[in-house]
Amino acid sequence: IRRIAISTGGGDAPGLNAVIHAVVKAAHQRRWECFGIREGFNGILRPDRYPQDGIIPLSTQMVEQISHLGGTILGTTNHGNPLHYPTTMPDGSVQECDRTPDIHRALREHQIDALICIGGDGTLTIANALHEQGLRVIGVPKTIDNDLDKTFTTFGFDTAVAFATECVDRLHSTASAHQRIMVVEVMGRYAGWIALHSGLASHAHAILLPEIPYDNTKLSDFLIAREQAGHHYSIVLAAEGATTIQGQREVQQAASAGYVERLGGIGEQLAHKLQASTGKEARAVVLGHLLRGGSPTAFDRVSALRFGAAAVRALEQDMSGVMVALAFPNVNYVPLAEVAGRMKAVPADSDTLQTARDLGICLGD
Ligand code: F6P
Repeated sequence: IRRIAISTGGGDAPGLNAVIHAVVKAAHQRRWECFGIREGFNGILRPDRYPQDGIIPLSTQMVEQISHLGGTILGTTNHGNPLHYPTTMPDGSVQECDRTPDIHRALREHQIDALICIGGDGTLTIANALHEQGLRVIGVPKTIDNDLDKTFTTFGFDTAVAFATECVDRLHSTASAHQRIMVVEVMGRYAGWIALHSGLASHAHAILLPEIPYDNTKLSDFLIAREQAGHHYSIVLAAEGATTIQGQREVQQAASAGYVERLGGIGEQLAHKLQASTGKEARAVVLGHLLRGGSPTAFDRVSALRFGAAAVRALEQDMSGVMVALAFPNVNYVPLAEVAGRMKAVPADSDTLQTARDLGICLGD
């Protein structure tokens, strides 16, 4: 190997820059040159945005002081899947095309021997396709949602949980002062990892997860019972993908009809409902993209550095088509084909879930 490239795709997560730092440093140790593709694969597929070159050399100096920074110095996008890339045809119409041949061509032109793709489910699916087409590719898992299979955790998750916890810690006093119900909505897509972990850490009174459809009446009765027992405020932590049993049916119907719903909005809706059903004042707080920002925690920085270095070691050992994963105490490698398109939900037998039940936290079921 002489030259490798890195690409960061999908929603950003704190720790991306630490992976880039580790890849560039570890490559430098082996006297390999390192390049970065700008904005997912748009650095290749959107020459209009990168007229000079969307594949840029990455020196060790450039990555020296970036590990503690949120975001990604390369930029990212969740609208640039090269397998279904919106492309303007000669007749002016826009069609989704497979643009992976353009990626292979650009990498050949830059004499790049291998690619490290850092991303979530979508990016790792693309990485697997590129590997199957003959490119040497290593995947690095990234998502604040922690919903990627085959890895114990992903960098970004710990930072998101730490920040959500700090926010809820702060909400206790204002909720208590006003004797209100506060509904806090957190990200997580169709998995409840962020809600469960931050809800436990911050002593939320109810935690709603996509994995456990909740019952409005049971939740409301629980909050009324708290009031009657002399607890005059409550915090409900709701994952953005949490639904009622009825809501879950609607989502499934929408999905089977090909309609992909954008998540979010549960906070406001639920606060409104709970105010009516409990007679208590309720407010919603949506933490949203705040969970993706800021500096990665030390745990996430170390995980990201380990992932980056392990990706370089994998290339050195002639691997391709694998994802670096965290399997305590060390990292290991799993085939990308086993990860792509699979979601890791909170399992029903999780002891973390059982801990919430043992502590008397309402899960709405
Ligand atoms: O995958 C991370 C995530 O933060 C999800 O939790 C959330 O639903 C989604 O990204 C939102 O992404 P965006 O607003 O960038 O489309």
